[in-house]
Amino acid sequence: MGRIKCIGILTSGGDAPGMNAAIRAVTRTAIFNGLTVKGIMRGYHGLVTNEIIDFKSQSVSNIIQKGGTILKTARSKEFMTEEGRKAAYDNMQANGIDALVVIGGDGSLTGAQLFAREYDIPIVGLPGTIDNDLSGTDSTIGYDTALNTIMDAVDKLRDTATSHERLFFVEVMGNTAGYLALNGAIASGAEAAIIPEMETEVDQLSQLIDHGFRKSKNSAIVLVAENKKTGGAMGLAERIKHEYPQYDARVTILGHIQRGGSPTAIDRILASRMGAAAIQALLDGQRNVMIGIQNGEMTYVPFAKAVSREKKLDRGSIDLVKILSI
Ligand code: F6P
Repeated sequence: MGRIKCIGILTSGGDAPGMNAAIRAVTRTAIFNGLTVKGIMRGYHGLVTNEIIDFKSQSVSNIIQKGGTILKTARSKEFMTEEGRKAAYDNMQANGIDALVVIGGDGSLTGAQLFAREYDIPIVGLPGTIDNDLSGTDSTIGYDTALNTIMDAVDKLRDTATSHERLFFVEVMGNTAGYLALNGAIASGAEAAIIPEMETEVDQLSQLIDHGFRKSKNSAIVLVAENKKTGGAMGLAERIKHEYPQYDARVTILGHIQRGGSPTAIDRILASRMGAAAIQALLDGQRNVMIGIQNGEMTYVPFAKAVSREKKLDRGSIDLVKILSI
């Protein structure tokens, strides 16, 4: 493999606030180091269909504060096929792209791992997802902004929950992980978080009702991670109706609002540092790694580890929600 002269950048999977800050950092660090940059539209889909544009420093002006992704995003079905990846490789060659920076979550990095292995291409990934479910990094780009969105929403719900003395189930995203629910609960002072990681250990709803709820409070907010295992907020409210009819429960599903909005300072800084580190990694000869952050330091995480779901929720935080809600 010769020297890298041109990099392609794409965003893939669910968008996350801070993706634009990452695009900006990757582009400008690459140009600063004498590389040329191509923006690939709509994730892997644009690589397959050759929607590739030249990126200059000005292409990423005035985007650090914007949510979403200026490159658009998609979950590409074509790229999951061998023919699709062959077309993607041919388009990379035709556009003179020597290496890729892929910003996305576990599906996107799994695709990157496969593509890199099949075609021997240097690829560096950036963890771009609100779910914070990638291993080898303390935080993903977009997670902090989504937590702040959840916190703001719960602050508002608290007013009506208190006035009506009601139990609220607030469903948050997270894919298969409970990070948004657990840390959203700590940040908003919620009475409990119901998360998939605990579902096999205890019946979290009965524990909440039997052990604590309403001993000292007339209203409660429970954050529920979207997941079949937890039953989601609707499933739990249904259970309340049948098993604990004395309670007046309401459901709020925050949904895709959690993916939007201007990124927080923490996400902008994280995305900027990670974007610059991605280019440095490629220049240093790294390939097939995700950039992570651990205890403030940038790390290189092999794709296989990044998508392994090895990262464990902090048990202390689970206890903390209980302690602080007495
Ligand atoms: O991975 C990000 C995420 O927002 C998950 O939290 C959620 O489960 C999923 O994407 C929703 O995907 P879609 O945008 O396709 O509805």
